[in-house]
Amino acid sequence: MSTATLDRPTHPQTESMPKESNPGRKSPPAADSASHSLAGQTLPGIDRIVLTGFMGSGKTSTGRLLARHLGWRFLDLDQEIEARHHRTVPQIFSEHGEAHFRHIESLALASLLGQRQVVIALGGGAPEELGNRLLLEQTPHTAVIYLSASFDILVSRCTAQAADPSATARPNLTDLARAEQRYHLRRPHYERIAAHTVETAELTPAQTAEAIVAALRTALPPVGRQGSR
Ligand code: S3P
Repeated sequence: MSTATLDRPTHPQTESMPKESNPGRKSPPAADSASHSLAGQTLPGIDRIVLTGFMGSGKTSTGRLLARHLGWRFLDLDQEIEARHHRTVPQIFSEHGEAHFRHIESLALASLLGQRQVVIALGGGAPEELGNRLLLEQTPHTAVIYLSASFDILVSRCTAQAADPSATARPNLTDLARAEQRYHLRRPHYERIAAHTVETAELTPAQTAEAIVAALRTALPPVGRQGSR
């Protein structure tokens, strides 16, 4: 993932910014160098990997690669919500408001956490909810990984994704000043729920996936609990 453009781009404030992932409508990521290095690796004691981080952190692109290489399923929380409610995320925001979205997001998260051998990409705002953080912490055999980058890099990535007409809009990136406030508000939550933080500024999604597996194999979490963060 390129980090060449670090300046915050100017962007029309009246349009929602798109999300990179729109499973079902996007072409799959190209094969890459992670294919060989991750294939066949096992992660004893871990039933699911949950990727968290702000919009543009690479949760979906990294999650797809990671799942593929582990032979697990990839689940995207926003996609799950859209499938359940037959609405896009921006439609849910505009028709029912963010509070309603957060409510149905929590229900969808609880459902996804019941599955095994899955890589789950959260929406960037899910860890704002205390109930979601508790659920993540208390679900056994679950490794939460925080994909970190600076706000400017994240906005640059989201802006680049805007070129894809099939990408889903991101209502909470419409107002960049408010988005930056959310970024600073959320960071401590991402850090607290995560077993590992991967700094993604210089990494491609494939390299990020490799870093996640390396971190998990180096320090496997205790089996049956997640600690008391
Ligand atoms: C949101 C992030 C989005 C999506 C929704 C709200 C947020 O997911 O859940 O637009 O508040 O940060 P991504 O982080 O996958 O873009």
